[in-house]
Amino acid sequence: MSSKENAKKKLLEILNQSISREIAVSIQYMWNHVMAIGTNAEDIGGVFEDFAKVEMKHAEKFAERIWYRVESQQQSLPK
Ligand SMILES: [Fe+2]
Repeated sequence: MSSKENAKKKLLEILNQSISREIAVSIQYMWNHVMAIGTNAEDIGGVFEDFAKVEMKHAEKFAERIWYRVESQQQSLPK
């Protein structure tokens, strides 16, 4: 495998790991939102909910980057 192919493979691996991490963090924040209790639960829970949404958007960005790579590779294939 060429160094260029190795680099592509490593990049895809890192992007997939990044999506996984963002989703895991989003789920953690979502649970913090759901489990917020006490007098400030509404405010604190809302902050965690916002964080969960932000982290999910990060996962979306990584997914879009992977899809861009897939589309680019398909367009470069001989027809
Ligand atoms: Fe993030």
